[in-house]
Amino acid sequence: MAQENELKHVAVILDGNGRWAKQHGVERREGHLAGANRVVDFMNYISRYESIRYVTLYAFSTENWKRSKDEVDALMNILAKFLDDNLEVLLREKVRLLTAGDITALPEACRVRLEKVKRETAKSFTRTFILALNYGSRREITDAVKSIAAEVKNGTLAVDDITEQTVADHLYNPDIPDPDLLIRTSGEERISNFLLWQISYSEFYFTKTLWPDFDINEFDLAVQAFYGRKRRFGGR
Ligand code: IPE
Ligand code: IPE
Ligand code: MG
Repeated sequence: MAQENELKHVAVILDGNGRWAKQHGVERREGHLAGANRVVDFMNYISRYESIRYVTLYAFSTENWKRSKDEVDALMNILAKFLDDNLEVLLREKVRLLTAGDITALPEACRVRLEKVKRETAKSFTRTFILALNYGSRREITDAVKSIAAEVKNGTLAVDDITEQTVADHLYNPDIPDPDLLIRTSGEERISNFLLWQISYSEFYFTKTLWPDFDINEFDLAVQAFYGRKRRFGGR
C-alpha cells in the first residue's frame, strides 16, 4: 500500500499578485512580475524535498481572459520572458515542463516558447513542473467526456467499460499522480475551477500570505501542516 503521507505532488493556486501591487502602490503588472520571481524561488524550495516530484501551478485560468487587455498582455509578456530566462535552469535542475490547458489560444510568442521548453526538458528529468495556462477544470472534464464519447461512437470503447480510470486517462496529463497537497495563497478559500477531479483526496492549505510574499518559511509551514494531517481516504 502506498505510504499515506508521502508528499509527491504539490499544487498551488498562486493568488494575491494584484493585492500585493496595491499594497506597494505599484501597477498590477509589477505584482505579476514579483509573482513570477516567486515561481523561480518556489522551484528552489521544492528541490529541498526529495519526495516532491510534481508541482502544478495555476498561472492563468479560462476565466482570467475577463481581465483587461492590458493586464492579460502583461501576464503573457511575463510568461514569455519567464520561459526565456529559465530554460537553462530547468535543464540544469532536470525539471521537465508540462502544461495543462489549451495553450493554442495563447499569443504565439508564448506558444512557441512553451513548445520549445517542453521539448527540450522532456529529454532528461527527475521532477515535473506543470503550468496550468488557460486552464479550467470544467473544460478539462468536458474535453474528456467528448473524447470518451467519440471512442464510443467509433466503436473502440463500450459504454459498460467506462470506469473512473477511463475518465482519469482522458484528462490533460493522465500520467501525473493526483496532488497530495493543494496550497492557495492570499486568504481566498475557494478552488476557482482548478483540478476538480484530481483533488478529491488532496489536503488543503490556505494562507493569508500573498503569493509574492510566499517565501521558503511559508512553504515549510505548508509542508509541516501536510505531515500533521491524517489521511484516511475513506478508511478508518
Ligand atoms: C494571481 O494574482 C495571478 C493570476 C490570477 C493570474 P491575482 O492577479 O489574482 O491577484 P489578486 O487576487 O487581484 O490580488
Ligand atoms: C485563480 O485566481 C486563477 C489563478 C490563480 C490563475 P483568481 O484570482 O482568478 O480567482 P478568483 O477570481 O479570485 O476566484
Ligand atoms: Mg486573484
